Amino acid sequence: MNNSIQARPGLLGRVRSRQSGLPTGLLGRFFGRAMEGATADSNDRALAMLDLSQPRTVLDVGFGQGRTASVLLGDGHRVIGVDASPTMVKQATARNRAACRDGRATIRHGDGITIPFPDDSADAAITAHTIYFMPDPTATIAEIARVLRPGGTLAIACRTSDTPAAAWIDPEVYRIPTVAQVIAMLHAAGFDPIEHQPGDASNGDIHCFAARLPSGAS
Ligand SMILES: C[S@@+](CC[C@H](N)C(=O)[O-])C[C@H]1O[C@@H](n2cnc3c(N)ncnc32)[C@H](O)[C@@H]1O
Repeated sequence: MNNSIQARPGLLGRVRSRQSGLPTGLLGRFFGRAMEGATADSNDRALAMLDLSQPRTVLDVGFGQGRTASVLLGDGHRVIGVDASPTMVKQATARNRAACRDGRATIRHGDGITIPFPDDSADAAITAHTIYFMPDPTATIAEIARVLRPGGTLAIACRTSDTPAAAWIDPEVYRIPTVAQVIAMLHAAGFDPIEHQPGDASNGDIHCFAARLPSGAS
C-alpha cells in the first residue's frame, strides 16, 4: 500500500478519516449517516456485479450504517455481516431491527481477521470502503473465501492508489492499495476470474472488483 508520499490533511481531514475507519460514539453515529450518501452509489455498483437474481445469503464485511443490508433485505436476500465498530453494529441493527429479530439478518461485531460465521454459509459477499482499514486485508479476503460456498462471489468497492487520493484522506489511517494489489489479494485467496470496473471522475474514482471462487466441480 503505497501512500507514503501523500501529505497529512488538517484536523478535519484527520477526524473524517479516523471516523470513516472506525466510527465511534456520537460523532461516529453522525459519520455513519453522513457516509451513506457518499458510498451508496459505489455499493450499488458493486452489488450489480454479483449474481443476485435469486434470493441469496450475502455477507457484508464492514457494513457501516447498514444501508446496503437494507437494500439487500428489501430485495428478498438474507444478510450476515461483521463490522469492527460497536457504534456501527448498533446503528445497522437499529436500521434493520425487524430482519435482525426474525433471523433474516445476523449482524456481528468483529475485526475481519476471523469472521464469526461457518464455512460455506454465504452465496455472495461485499466489502465496500473497508479494505484500507483492515489490519491484514489479505487474511480478511481469505476469511471471506472460507465463509463463501464454492462458486460464491465477492465484490469489493474501494479507492486505489493508482490515482492521487483526495486531500482530506489521512495516509496514516487509509492504507490504499493499487489495482494490482487488490487483484493479487483476490488471486491469493483462490478467486478466479476477477472482473475490474475502473474508478474515474464519473464515479468518484471508486473502483469495483467482482471475483468468483471455483465451483468445486471437477
Ligand atoms: C467507510 S465505512 C464503509 C461502510 C459501508 N461499507 C459503506 O460502504 O457505507 C468503513 C467501515 O468498515 C468498518 N471496518 C473497519 N475496519 C474493519 C475490519 N477490520 N473489519 C470489519 N469492519 C471494519 C468500519 O467500522 C466502518 O463501519
